[in-house]
Amino acid sequence: MNIKYFVILLFFGLCCGDPYFLNVTEYFRMPPLFELDNYEQCMASENGVFCVVAVDVITEPDNDVTNIITKYSANKLKRFNHSIIERGICVTRSCTRQNIKNLNMEDLKIVLSECLNETIYDEYKVKTKVSRINYCNNSKRQVDVDVDIGDWIFAIIILIIFFCITKLEQVYLKRAERSKIKKFSRLTQLY
Ligand SMILES: *[C@@H]1O[C@H](CO)[C@@H](O)[C@H](O)[C@H]1NC(C)=O
Ligand SMILES: *[C@@H]1O[C@H](CO)[C@@H](O)[C@H](O)[C@H]1NC(C)=O
Ligand SMILES: *[C@@H]1O[C@H](CO)[C@@H](O)[C@H](O)[C@H]1NC(C)=O
Ligand SMILES: *[C@@H]1O[C@H](CO)[C@@H](O)[C@H](O)[C@H]1NC(C)=O
Repeated sequence: MNIKYFVILLFFGLCCGDPYFLNVTEYFRMPPLFELDNYEQCMASENGVFCVVAVDVITEPDNDVTNIITKYSANKLKRFNHSIIERGICVTRSCTRQNIKNLNMEDLKIVLSECLNETIYDEYKVKTKVSRINYCNNSKRQVDVDVDIGDWIFAIIILIIFFCITKLEQVYLKRAERSKIKKFSRLTQLY
């Protein structure tokens, strides 16, 4: 294709191809794509827990804001999808109504979903749902890994397998050595 037409098309695409513009007021009715609580402050407190999560805005047909989001995000080439937002939250600060002690990841996801839905709904009147927990960190020195019975069984099985492999190897080596000696003694008998 002639480069001239390409440039003209590209220019047209960038400037005029998009009928849906938002003025500033409208734009800020959408929840921001990213928002982070203060990480250092969170980690400074004892038992601070900080999670980074991906959140889906739930589209509702009669909700002004999700209508704006859907229309605005429809232009995939030029705009982010504003129905998918990310939040870094200091759970111990921002979700004080929820109890987050001793939760596994699935339950934590539900609790974070509830907490974020509340705060985002208060401000933007849209419902949201946590789709993924990217990671969590806490201010305790040791990393909180839930070691359950499954993990122990797995570790023990691996150990047993290693033990068997070493044993088998020893047996094979011994057998190989013995047969070598036998061959050798047969050879020496010939001469
Ligand atoms: C932004 O657009 C909306 C809808 O078109 C309109 O009601 C509102 O007055 C506009 N606000 C400004 C500041 O232009
Ligand atoms: C934006 O993301 C949502 C949720 O993943 C999806 O349902 C929707 O189709 C996406 N919109 C566009 C224009 O890609
Ligand atoms: C989100 O919060 C709103 C308002 O409090 C509530 O009506 C809605 O059921 C909540 N949605 C979810 C999925 O928790
Ligand atoms: C989690 O916190 C520890 C200590 O507070 C820090 O060393 C580590 O880099 C953090 N991990 C992430 C993924 O931020």
